Amino acid sequence: MTDLISLAANAPKAELHLHIEGSFEPALMFEIARRNGVKLPFASVEGIRAAYDFSNLQEFLDIYYQGMSVLLKRQDFYDLTWAYLTRAAADNVIHTEIFFDPQGHTERGVAFADAVDGITRALADARAKLGMSSKLIMCFLRHLSEEDAFATLEDAVPFLSVIDGVGLDSSEVGHPPSKFARVFAKAREMGLRVVAHAGEEGPPDYVWEALDILKVARVDHGNRALEDKKLVARLAGEGMCLTVCPLSNLKLCVVDDMKDHPIKAMLDAGLKPCINSDDPSYFGGYVNDNFAALIKALPLNRKDVEQLLRNSFEGSFLDAPDKQAVLAKLDDYLASA
Ligand code: HPA
Ligand code: ZN
Repeated sequence: MTDLISLAANAPKAELHLHIEGSFEPALMFEIARRNGVKLPFASVEGIRAAYDFSNLQEFLDIYYQGMSVLLKRQDFYDLTWAYLTRAAADNVIHTEIFFDPQGHTERGVAFADAVDGITRALADARAKLGMSSKLIMCFLRHLSEEDAFATLEDAVPFLSVIDGVGLDSSEVGHPPSKFARVFAKAREMGLRVVAHAGEEGPPDYVWEALDILKVARVDHGNRALEDKKLVARLAGEGMCLTVCPLSNLKLCVVDDMKDHPIKAMLDAGLKPCINSDDPSYFGGYVNDNFAALIKALPLNRKDVEQLLRNSFEGSFLDAPDKQAVLAKLDDYLASA
């Protein structure tokens, strides 16, 4: 078991499901709040951590939006992103595809350009200093209207050289993918990649809609797809990547115990899951912690772990030569590990 944990930890890997605002560590949150003169409703880092006890997605989201509200300036977004990138590099992440929530910032009067500037400068530095490649995906908040999402897509037009795709996040139940059919069609027309959170708390029907209506290239989470055999066959047949987030699933009570996590069932059903940290500061761990938690709780074998690592690159939006290069790196590592 320890061997598999270190095999996974030392392996080069990609992370494909990471909300940059969810990587906001309490110490940095306090520092940025202080320099911006913003008051947090917590007295200490310990006080913040104690509040991270969630019984569902909404309870988490309420605190997550509160946390990001201290981000005001370009440098704040840079510092947030750089902190994640250096931490991810320590977990041997060599490629990352990060989400950000523009509406969580523009709603508070922060310019779209300021968020993008800070995030993309950090991504460029990661390329230069850490050798880490990246893609940037902006998510629409699904509890807001499709009209709002259209306005956000419009905000993105001057930045299409640095934004690779759109996603869909926030409160799932009651906000099905079909609510965003037209704005996703427009994003696809503009050449953007499209992904969506589906089947985290929402039913298998939402995963069908993400596939058939939004025409996603990946499904974020997708846990509840397992309730529908036809859907499993469809996802497996298409080789659709599922960006699974084990510690998130545990913290948000999508699974009651890591021993009940469906990752093994997904692999055995021929699905293509990969392992991600989602909102690592809130859910108790970065990507290697997620691998370790699964390996400790479940009878995963070496082949399973290798497959999960491979899926992280195969499911990425790297172009074919870059994908081949990172897969070759992983193969070299596995051959000698
Ligand atoms: N689900 C939905 N919305 C989110 C999440 C998540 O796990 N993290 C940040 N926004
Ligand atoms: Zn997520």
